[in-house]
Amino acid sequence: MSVKPENQLLIKQAYAVLSNNDLGTSTKPAPQLYPHQWNWDSAFIAIGLSHQNEARAQTEIKSLLKAQWSNGMIPHIVFNPDASDYHPGPDYWRTDIPMAPQSIQTSGITQPPILAFAALEVYHNSGNKKTALQFLKDVFPNLLHQTDFLLNERDPLKQGLAFICHPWESGMDNASTWDTSLNSFIMEFQPDFTRRDNQKIDEKQRPSDNEYSRYSYLVQRYGMEQWNQSKIYTLGLFNIQSVLINALHLKSMQALSGICKILGQDCGKIDNQITSVRNAFKTILWDDDLARYQDFDLNTGKPIISENLSQFIPLFAGIPDQKQAESLISKLVSPEFWPNPGWGICSQSANNSEFDGLRYWRGPVWINMNWMIIKGLEHYNRSDLANRLAHETLQLVEQNGFYEYFNPETGQGLGSDSFSWTAALVIDLITSGYE
Ligand code: SER
Repeated sequence: MSVKPENQLLIKQAYAVLSNNDLGTSTKPAPQLYPHQWNWDSAFIAIGLSHQNEARAQTEIKSLLKAQWSNGMIPHIVFNPDASDYHPGPDYWRTDIPMAPQSIQTSGITQPPILAFAALEVYHNSGNKKTALQFLKDVFPNLLHQTDFLLNERDPLKQGLAFICHPWESGMDNASTWDTSLNSFIMEFQPDFTRRDNQKIDEKQRPSDNEYSRYSYLVQRYGMEQWNQSKIYTLGLFNIQSVLINALHLKSMQALSGICKILGQDCGKIDNQITSVRNAFKTILWDDDLARYQDFDLNTGKPIISENLSQFIPLFAGIPDQKQAESLISKLVSPEFWPNPGWGICSQSANNSEFDGLRYWRGPVWINMNWMIIKGLEHYNRSDLANRLAHETLQLVEQNGFYEYFNPETGQGLGSDSFSWTAALVIDLITSGYE
């Protein structure tokens, strides 16, 4: 495969970003803003690393799994003991409990579960299949345990869908989708904290103080329950069946079924679980009248109508049937989600009254979302659109840098520079033949 000189340079720069953020056995998402290891960041990073250094990619995943809780939860942050300038730090979480690992400090919540999919990608990209097979054998039980956590502890009503208990678990922290649910619960006390994020990044590009206050309250309140999952559910503060989380959960379960077959084990149980999650997408998350997927708030018993891009992520997991996929794709290509010319998919529709092209998940373009949607378009044989989206993604980074997110109108880089998953997924796109 011949790679254009400008993309060869981009790959070289991308590896330099990953190398500068390397903490030894894990990679921080960004040099200053995110000094620890993050869950879904590491999954994307491992995919990028696997094209150059498969052993290091395997270590990235294994280091995250070392922090797995005894209930199967893989925490969203694994704290780096050498970094202190982050809120909320390890003590704020009160995760010094028997369920959490004893020698590593972690947060108490999880994040979009894409790790099993990443593990299978790392295997497929490996040159040394013997070592890679051993890697799959090593990680398979932990990844199954994570699935059990989501299927059991996070599905108290046995509906086939996992709920999230905090906007940080959604991956799309300050999407306006969460506004009503986040502002509905009563805070029994005012959490005490000092933000660090907006000392490093322009506050116009970060969540508001009100959101941070409520994020911090949830952390403290759940910590008071020692992170007991049924108590968290019963508190009823923020219990949402998120489309994004469940789509990635299903994608990871499909990967686990693939791993199971590679390992020659009986895969009946996981295959049945896949069917039940697929059915729940049809019966609970799909709205036939609106022809779209919607998050479901377990506290109000109602779907949340909000135009954000998570409705397109089920394409990545092959969940919609052909007719549903066509409806979703016709909305995806509309200019309020995908400006033309443009840089990819807005995290919130420009028609949404809360759209803000600068503020984190309220409008900006994110490389991991473009990347998942490219894969979704490929799945539904829309390589014309997949190629266009990949091209815009690569141009965006080449012209503006390895930023965390981007202004959908101007392409301006926002948030942190030298962002690891941006680098990792640029490597993956170019190595997969996109230009
Ligand atoms: N994404 C959150 C942050 O901005 C927490 O995981 O720090």
